[in-house]
Amino acid sequence: MVIHLVCAARPNFMKIAPFYRALKKEQWAEPIIVHTGQHYDINMSDVFFEDLGLPAPDINLGVKSGSHAEQTGTVMIAYEKVLVDQRPDLVVVVGDVNSTMASVIAASKLGIKTAHLEAGLRSLDRSMPEEINRLVTDVLADMLWVPSRDAFDNLIREGVSPGKIHLVGNIMIDSLEMLRDKMEAQQTYKEFGLEQKAYGVVTLHRPSNVDDPIKLKKICDILCEISEKVPIIFPIHPRTRKNLEANQLFSSLEKCQTLFLPEPLNYIRFMNLVFNCRYVLTDSGGIQEETSYLGIPCITIRENTERPITITQGTNQLCRLDQATKKVDEILQNPMPLQKEIELWDGHTAERIITVLREASFK
Ligand code: UD1
Repeated sequence: MVIHLVCAARPNFMKIAPFYRALKKEQWAEPIIVHTGQHYDINMSDVFFEDLGLPAPDINLGVKSGSHAEQTGTVMIAYEKVLVDQRPDLVVVVGDVNSTMASVIAASKLGIKTAHLEAGLRSLDRSMPEEINRLVTDVLADMLWVPSRDAFDNLIREGVSPGKIHLVGNIMIDSLEMLRDKMEAQQTYKEFGLEQKAYGVVTLHRPSNVDDPIKLKKICDILCEISEKVPIIFPIHPRTRKNLEANQLFSSLEKCQTLFLPEPLNYIRFMNLVFNCRYVLTDSGGIQEETSYLGIPCITIRENTERPITITQGTNQLCRLDQATKKVDEILQNPMPLQKEIELWDGHTAERIITVLREASFK
């Protein structure tokens, strides 16, 4: 059974790695890695393949950046050619980036079976490009592999037949557990002259936070102020860097003595920072989950989340920008939260997907 694993952007690589590894052990499965090229910088792509022990992609569509329609359309055109040529038995797409939606559309129109890994998440906010990608992907995919019960319920509410949905757990936790020893062995924070639990980690890249110059300026001011209480490490995503530079804000951030601004870090080094930090402030999806799993306080600068379980059962709280300073103060005044177990976030999601595939009727 030839299975394409489509990946595109930084958060996708962690999701395909444990699944690729598990498929490689199966006689009946031939996994092929397809990289659309949406993320192409070495530190946004290659270093992740290296950390995750993934081979170089079998196929690279080389699509790179563009407007949403350009990026989606270019992936569809490029991937359709590959699909016509190779006709895999199954196309697996992950997450919610433009390439996820583009690939599932291309495959579905050719009558090729598809599966969505991390299906069913909903922010109910269609101003987010990812929400559109999730909705379209889940309408089209033949199999929907969900990380949590709320995702299962979302799909049922949308009228999806229960037979298509499989509650398999959170694949990101498989990646984390797969590399935990290496993550723990690092001391990335020491490279910044910092001590365990005596710094915060910040990541911000969502258009809703970083594309508006006024909001971005506010973010810079707040981060500078917060970093005076406890130093901050803020690895800068390319979108954020571009906008900071275009608005002459990067140099003002650099002036804050206790705010460190490295380039995006590889997965293992970044996760070592998260393991040892006092709190995280982010707008990422995956980091809300990783901090919940690790029992690290997380402030999410967004109005909503497609991962509500990180609030109800984890350590995450949504926060408006103007409340961020107060929230950080609260976290610093309180002890670290207790780690709680979340159902099926256990490092065995890839195995459960293999079982689903073994039993799938079209195998
Ligand atoms: C994309 C995903 C987002 C995900 C994020 C993780 C969509 C709609 N968004 O957002 O869900 O959370 O990836 O990082 O698919 N750029 C580079 N080098 C790269 C990649 C991008 O310089 O390797 C620059 C480009 O100038 C590009 C900008 O960053 O215009 C944004 O990249 P893009 O892939 O469009 O979206 P992200 O913001 O990364």
